[in-house]
Amino acid sequence: MLDIRFEKTTAPKQIPGKEDPLTFGTIFTDHMFIMNYETGKGWHDARVVPYQPIVLQPSAMVFHYGQEMFEGLKAYKTAEGKTLLFRPDKNIERANRTNERICIPTIPEEDFLQAIKAVVKADEAWIPEKEGTSLYIRPFIIATDPFLGVRPSDTYMFIIILSPVGAYYPEGLNPVKIWIEDEYVRAVKGGIGEAKTGGNYVASLKSQVKAHDAGYSQVLWLDGVERKYIEEVGAMNIFFKINGTVVTPMLNGSILPGVTRDSVIALCKEWGIPVEEKRISIDDIFEAAHNGTLEEVWGTGTAAVISPVGHLRWGEHVMQVQDGGIGPVSQKLYDTVTGIQTGKVEDTLGWTVEV
Ligand code: COI
Repeated sequence: MLDIRFEKTTAPKQIPGKEDPLTFGTIFTDHMFIMNYETGKGWHDARVVPYQPIVLQPSAMVFHYGQEMFEGLKAYKTAEGKTLLFRPDKNIERANRTNERICIPTIPEEDFLQAIKAVVKADEAWIPEKEGTSLYIRPFIIATDPFLGVRPSDTYMFIIILSPVGAYYPEGLNPVKIWIEDEYVRAVKGGIGEAKTGGNYVASLKSQVKAHDAGYSQVLWLDGVERKYIEEVGAMNIFFKINGTVVTPMLNGSILPGVTRDSVIALCKEWGIPVEEKRISIDDIFEAAHNGTLEEVWGTGTAAVISPVGHLRWGEHVMQVQDGGIGPVSQKLYDTVTGIQTGKVEDTLGWTVEV
């Protein structure tokens, strides 16, 4: 159990009002959580303090070799005024798997959850309540040793910041357009593709800019070896409904194991919809689009929730899905996932945790 010191802000900021539009990740709350690590001393000095800049040496290792991990989860307010987290245990487990992969010391799961609860509790008044909004929670760890050699750092900072958010994509629940990348790759098996670390996201930027310039929201990555099998979208995992069966790429070491991905698979199974996690070639998807069996495409992610995809481009090949609207399964998944998150739908799977 952590002993968390609390320093309340003396200059509270204006909380966005019900009518203020919320986008993604631009507004930050009044407080943040910080805890330090030092080899020999372990994780220590846990505190919730006013949101503020952090001071680091220019030589801090995170700036040079990218030893950092991050997570993303959300808090919601129910109609009864309770604050709920959605499957925080899954994010915490994944955070520690990322830590192991990039040589960051792990954090005991109960301490991690206590830290999240403490900072969310401090800024509970910031949780927006309008449909489609939530309080995004961003835990991250950075390597802070002032050293230019390549090795794991001996010191770290674990920080949690909070941001009231609306939809990740400006399209909201309208289908997004996805560009299938055929030049660059995001990750390969044996690399860090399944870890939640900044390096995977910086690797995606050049393609994302190319896709944006061409009028697309995101990039869909193919495998790094054969450039043939579908991996993920970067900010979300991807699902297809083909001839009544829901298919999604199986986790293979280079794909992020998404919490929403896992939730969607569980819900489809509960509803009796056949689900397959397997290798999916891009040719199979274009073939299904061509012969009329591709019924729906959607992405899943904490930030993106369930995001319908209406258009895919692969080189010269273009396909339109669902006439540009949201499909019935995507809609039901969105309603159910957000319903459980906000306490409107009964949480029969025990996914929510009260703060
Ligand atoms: C999330 O969905 O929480 C993520 O971390 C994706 C991020 C690129 C916004």
